[in-house]
Amino acid sequence: MEILKLAVGGWFARAMAVAARLEIADILDGKSMTAAELAERTGTHPEVLHRLLQMLTVPGVLERVGDEFRLTEAYAPLRADHPFTQRHFAILAAELYDDAMAGMMHTVRTGRSGFKELYGMSLYEYLDAHPDTAELFDKGMVDLAGPIAACLLAEHDFTDVTTIVDVGGGSGGLLPGIMAAHPRIGGVVADRADVCERGPGILARVADPAVLDRITYAPTDFFDEVPAGADRYVLKNVLHDWTYDNCVRILRSVAAAMAKSPDGARLLVVEPLVETDLDGWRAMFQAVACDEGTLGLDETRLREALAEGGFTVESMARLPTGHKLLVSALRTA
Ligand SMILES: C[S@@+](CC[C@H](N)C(=O)[O-])C[C@H]1O[C@@H](n2cnc3c(N)ncnc32)[C@H](O)[C@@H]1O
Repeated sequence: MEILKLAVGGWFARAMAVAARLEIADILDGKSMTAAELAERTGTHPEVLHRLLQMLTVPGVLERVGDEFRLTEAYAPLRADHPFTQRHFAILAAELYDDAMAGMMHTVRTGRSGFKELYGMSLYEYLDAHPDTAELFDKGMVDLAGPIAACLLAEHDFTDVTTIVDVGGGSGGLLPGIMAAHPRIGGVVADRADVCERGPGILARVADPAVLDRITYAPTDFFDEVPAGADRYVLKNVLHDWTYDNCVRILRSVAAAMAKSPDGARLLVVEPLVETDLDGWRAMFQAVACDEGTLGLDETRLREALAEGGFTVESMARLPTGHKLLVSALRTA
């Protein structure tokens, strides 16, 4: 039974993604419904939808109420209107990321990117060529960023901060949570040009318009140059995508921008580091799907990259989400 459960585990992730695409959690809206009612609302095949709903009771996404099905509390973030919704990330992980895992054998045999082997291009090249998936990716990143903003607010003092540059910030999902609590702060999202173009539309789903007005988008290649002039720079869930040498290149770009910024400028690196066996799944994702040759970043390696990139680490904290926050200043000569 244990082997069987694991062998079909991916099917359950797909089933959750299908339900998320059909917006079943939103349609249920706290109530219970029969498969026939849900099939009518989603335009799907009633008998097969019934199988999908049955299947989703196994991991506890749904529960039975007589002939009806209800979303469980643990899976409430599948709803698009949940404050910490994970709806798009659930779809992204079960579709694009799971498809990429077909390249795992290649990565295990060679140490090289399974994603490149499968698709003939890197993840970000693939997103450039597939706008629908790129939009899903951006929305998935906004889902992941929401809970971190609350943790950062509790851990870091933003009182005197005026400008934050979120480097590789995606659509800017981290900023509204921080900026809503600090009305003086302006935000700059520095990401690839197409991400910046989609950003305001995607962020409008979750951000207050008044906060959105204080956010600008700066098309950026962080291997080249990062906008200067801010007193906080953020790199969240960016460095683990890259090999050590590429991390140092990104950090040097940020250091160059910070050298032209106010004296009290700081860099906040927020990363889900790979440090125990429990993080092995994350390291495997990074090896298969991220920059060719990426093997997972731990705190020691991150500190080495920060030092080589021109920074001195001032503090480290573990956030309740499991991410580590390293606050760094530019190293003085
Ligand atoms: C894993 S996502 C993290 C997004 C965001 N920081 C977050 O945590 O939600 C990495 C981001 O790096 C951006 N990125 C990749 N290559 C880049 C480049 N050369 N210059 C700027 N941004 C880049 C991607 O577009 C993507 O938005």
